[in-house]
Amino acid sequence: MLQLEDISVAFGGLAALSNVNLRVDNGEFVGLVGPNGAGKTTVFNVISGLVKPTAGNARFIAMDLLKQPIHARARAGIARTFQIPQPLHELTVRQNLIVAQKFGTGHSDPKRIDEILDFLGLTERAERNAANDLALTEHKALEVGKALATDPKLLLLDEALAGLETTGKRQFTQMIKQLHEETGLAIVIIEHDIETISELCQRAVVLDFGKVIADETPERIFRDPEVMRSYTGERSA
Ligand SMILES: Nc1ncnc2c1ncn2[C@@H]1O[C@H](COP(=O)(O)OP(=O)(O)OP(=O)(O)O)[C@@H](O)[C@H]1O
Ligand SMILES: [Mg+2]
Repeated sequence: MLQLEDISVAFGGLAALSNVNLRVDNGEFVGLVGPNGAGKTTVFNVISGLVKPTAGNARFIAMDLLKQPIHARARAGIARTFQIPQPLHELTVRQNLIVAQKFGTGHSDPKRIDEILDFLGLTERAERNAANDLALTEHKALEVGKALATDPKLLLLDEALAGLETTGKRQFTQMIKQLHEETGLAIVIIEHDIETISELCQRAVVLDFGKVIADETPERIFRDPEVMRSYTGERSA
């Protein structure tokens, strides 16, 4: 479904990504892990169109992805959440979903919005101001909801669970798991928590200093001492 080939990104003199290869098949659930600054969010920015790579190719279904503007990628079925939730201020939860739906699908489908609100447990919060009147879990849920409203085939979750306390995190993890099982969406999640990755993902890709250093089952990855050293930020000199 998605294939990145030898993608490199440079910001000034900084090589944020070097020859990154990433493949996501239909219905797969892939974890993208690695220490802070490894380039994880940059991978999402390349896929969604916010960052233009300096080299490499990318295909999504039959599309030459890098030639497509941001809105065309959304229409083709790529949706992402942001590490810092970015609701449209001054709008309600429901209005945020409506805007996302129009952006991603070109039409409005109030019934689908109701389903998303219900699935995310946001029905009671639908008419609240999205910027000011939500708890952190609700902000996170809305961020996922905005992505779902675009009717995606591939969902990119950037630390969708980060900052939640244990119970909230467990509930949210189960909700995402259910979403994957029920819809067969392909999902890539950026997440630091090993337990969460192991629970959700069939495969995890480890980035370190902009390079893919492992692409394996979570079980194997988190047993590899080299990977764990990079993961925990302990590096040999
Ligand atoms: N727009 C930008 N301009 C300049 N440098 C950037 C930009 N975006 C990212 N970087 C740099 O690229 C590197 C990779 O950043 P990125 O945000 O992709 O890391 P990350 O793996 O998502 O980290 P974190 O776990 O902290 O979210 C970092 O050194 C970061 O400072
Ligand atoms: Mg990031």
